[in-house]
Amino acid sequence: MLSLKVSDIINENPLFKTYVFKHGLNARPGQFVMVWMPGVDEVPMSVGWVEADEFRIGIFKAGDCTTAIHEQVKIGDRLGIRGPFGKGFDLKDYKKITLAGGGCGTPPLLALAQKAAEKGMDVTAIIGARSKNLLIYEKEFKKLGCKVLVSTDDGSKGHKGFITDILKKELEKGKTDAVYTCGPEKMMVKVIEIAQDHKIPSQASLERFMKCGFGICGQCCIDGTGLRVCKDGPVFDGEVAMKHKEFGKYARSASGKRCDL
Ligand code: FES
Repeated sequence: MLSLKVSDIINENPLFKTYVFKHGLNARPGQFVMVWMPGVDEVPMSVGWVEADEFRIGIFKAGDCTTAIHEQVKIGDRLGIRGPFGKGFDLKDYKKITLAGGGCGTPPLLALAQKAAEKGMDVTAIIGARSKNLLIYEKEFKKLGCKVLVSTDDGSKGHKGFITDILKKELEKGKTDAVYTCGPEKMMVKVIEIAQDHKIPSQASLERFMKCGFGICGQCCIDGTGLRVCKDGPVFDGEVAMKHKEFGKYARSASGKRCDL
């Protein structure tokens, strides 16, 4: 466990902040770190941006730990960081890729766009949120040279509706080599189905309650498969994710109780 100073905090919107650490982290897009807030809890967070001597994580204010981080951690304070863990996205030798991210699922896709841009790939980023003020990283995707398409549930920016509406039209228009997705599971199920309809491979990043983060406690096992999200994922091929009987339907709490998604 590293105790790392928070070098900067960017308030992206009322519910989402980016935390900057001036520390080299050998992480691939889609991998995650365990973030420890002393006295509160430890939570898994996707790595959202990596440079030689800096990495960033985006934290959505949702439960006790993320609320405590949002409300109590200031620039110069320290957080415990373990990782990186898990299998990230695989860019293979694709030339043109499409990213489909909803809400707090956007950060690992920004890290992926960063890597894809380094490789000279053509990237379309479809990002969605409930409304305009909750949209994140639009500017950052554009700075990387991505074609950015936006949807909001309330129509306050871009297409009124869901990112899956845009994805369907984009895939009908032209060729993309692969689709990458992260966000609410019901959305990811739809994204994978659309990709499958067009015979395009997909990869999806899943989230489950985690304890150890590296495959020994069994907390994040997917029912019926024995696959561990922390070690065998969090990124799975779309075909594999669709075989998980709980994918898009339910997850388990810290006590193992089933919670509908
Ligand atoms: S969190 Fe322990 S096995 Fe995944």
